[in-house]
Amino acid sequence: MGAKEKMNLHFLFDTFREIYPQKECDDPKAFFSPGRINLIGEHTDYNGGHVFPAAITYGTYGLARKRSDRLVRMFSMNFEEKGIIEFTLDDLNYKSHHHWVNYPKGMIRFIQELGKELPCGLEVLIYGNIPNGAGLSSSASLEMLTGVMVNELYGFQLEMLELVKAGKRVENEFIGVKSGIMDQFAIGMGKVNCGILLNCNTLKYEYAPLPLSEYKIIIMNTNKRRVLSDSKYNIRRSECEKALKLIQQECKVQSLGEITEEEFEAYKYLIDNDVLQKRARHAVYENQRTLNALQALKNDDLKSFGRLMNASHVSLRDDYEVTGIELDSLVEAAWKQESVVGARMTGAGFGGCAIAIVKDEMVERFIFEVGKEYQAKIGYQATFYAASIGNGTKAIE
Ligand code: GLA
Repeated sequence: MGAKEKMNLHFLFDTFREIYPQKECDDPKAFFSPGRINLIGEHTDYNGGHVFPAAITYGTYGLARKRSDRLVRMFSMNFEEKGIIEFTLDDLNYKSHHHWVNYPKGMIRFIQELGKELPCGLEVLIYGNIPNGAGLSSSASLEMLTGVMVNELYGFQLEMLELVKAGKRVENEFIGVKSGIMDQFAIGMGKVNCGILLNCNTLKYEYAPLPLSEYKIIIMNTNKRRVLSDSKYNIRRSECEKALKLIQQECKVQSLGEITEEEFEAYKYLIDNDVLQKRARHAVYENQRTLNALQALKNDDLKSFGRLMNASHVSLRDDYEVTGIELDSLVEAAWKQESVVGARMTGAGFGGCAIAIVKDEMVERFIFEVGKEYQAKIGYQATFYAASIGNGTKAIE
């Protein structure tokens, strides 16, 4: 743990004692849950394809201790004005006025559905440093934080994969976003300096070391908050489902992730709608690009890896149509820089963040040039962060 992290933790413990001043209780336990970036393999998870995300060292801290009654009390330093939000273990239903607390509440509910009843409530302090609304999965970070916290505090011994699946259920069944499993998986299973190639159909995965000695992964935030993204996200998903149904008339597959590029070209005539055909083409080709990207990395061929990232962005822009002027301007400005190996949007799209792999010694110049071009075109600033790739959700000793 670095000196800065230690100092921050100190501050969190002090704040916890201020918010929950009962003196006779034990000290809380501390936990950390990362955010994530996705290197390549976008909008492929719910299509049964591959993704290649990594956990970052920006994330969500949580301090928690058990209570003797059935209350759950939660306070977030990111939403101080909401104060302590409280619910009881006897009512784990979604309530809009419970705001951000619906994520941890949903998590507790689905953990209980795994047969692990919480015998008593808890009190929690949260602090997150993932840039707000940036599409770096602050919600999955909070879900996994709650999962690991509850698992450890109550000694449930649930496997990380069970918590990952519970987190996905929170999004799908509690919040109403029909997202795939990538975010919770990357956050729960993250490994320092590695990307995770995950087959979202079988949940088989492998870690791949990232070449971070001479290069940096730069996160570029458009600072355009995602608007209506959740409903557009669900629309993309249903478009893919429609395209799959049409292909299934002739081709015996369960998901678009099982279709090769050649099969797609042979069967695409069955998708008699241009928009649906474009959506399916993205899902099929992006899946193949993700596998090729892993191979390029294994061959130490970063150039090809970068080209695949660029092609991924083009496909998300033209076929999947989830980029928008802000992400496109940022990524196109990045492509012009000599120091860039590859750049693309990351996450759901519709605003949020892009990533670029940049030569280490040229990062400052890169940020200056791309920032200048973005500001001139869009009229407000982008923000840049160097991403460090870290471990998955864990207790902090
Ligand atoms: C969001 C979802 C993920 C995934 C990405 C797009 O982050 O939560 O499941 O679908 O968008 O790749």
